[in-house]
Amino acid sequence: MTHKPLIIANWKMYLPYNNVYTYLKTHTQELDQLVQASNIQLVICPSAESVSLAHKYLQATHVKYGAQNCSEFSIGPYTGEISARSLRQIGCNYCLVGHHERRTFAHENNAIIAKKITQLLKENLIPIVCIGETEYDYKQSKTLDVISEQLTAIMPNYDTTQTMIIAYEPGWAIGTGIIPQAIELESIINFIKINVKNSGHQAHVLYGGSVNENTIQSLSRVSSCDGYLIGSASTDFKKLKNIVSLLCKYV
Ligand code: PGA
Repeated sequence: MTHKPLIIANWKMYLPYNNVYTYLKTHTQELDQLVQASNIQLVICPSAESVSLAHKYLQATHVKYGAQNCSEFSIGPYTGEISARSLRQIGCNYCLVGHHERRTFAHENNAIIAKKITQLLKENLIPIVCIGETEYDYKQSKTLDVISEQLTAIMPNYDTTQTMIIAYEPGWAIGTGIIPQAIELESIINFIKINVKNSGHQAHVLYGGSVNENTIQSLSRVSSCDGYLIGSASTDFKKLKNIVSLLCKYV
């Protein structure tokens, strides 16, 4: 890890509006202190309707916030969609794109994901692009093929001066409590970095999938990993704080 670890808290649809309100009202100061004391960068990604709460509570702190998704279109008749421009106007710096759950439930493919990245970059937002294989692909030993294909689809969206943020999340590790072995993860992250570098680009690569208080020690051994995308464990402030403290102890 060559820079401050980047921790993305992906709250998915775990916390309804009132819960986000209570979380942020109760813990904003502690979150801010945690970031300042621990040499990490923290980005909170609540669900769309609560991004305005993140703006209200976090805008004057060292904690950044972002969205979990955006439209592939810039403006127009797209009922239910949220534009990258709106996200920028409400103060987001980051947006997740291509999360495994969106690829699965919302049938997002690489072409759609590439268009979303274009929208975000146009608005100066930083896309956190999620890639990774399904359990089926993993069992077929297709991990590297899938990752290469996903990277090839998105790399032309970036110019070579922009650092990409990639989150490698194997579908079989999300929400299961199972994580890849450190040695396996190290080689996949290195594969991603080499692939990106060979195309004249650069990337920070995060890991996501069952990052919690029990797994962070093993994951922190993966020296090429630049940070973590944390789902369910990040919705509990005590757990998040613990993960950060453990991480600071291990790295
Ligand atoms: P998890 O989710 O930490 O709950 O496994 C991670 C993610 O899907 O981003």
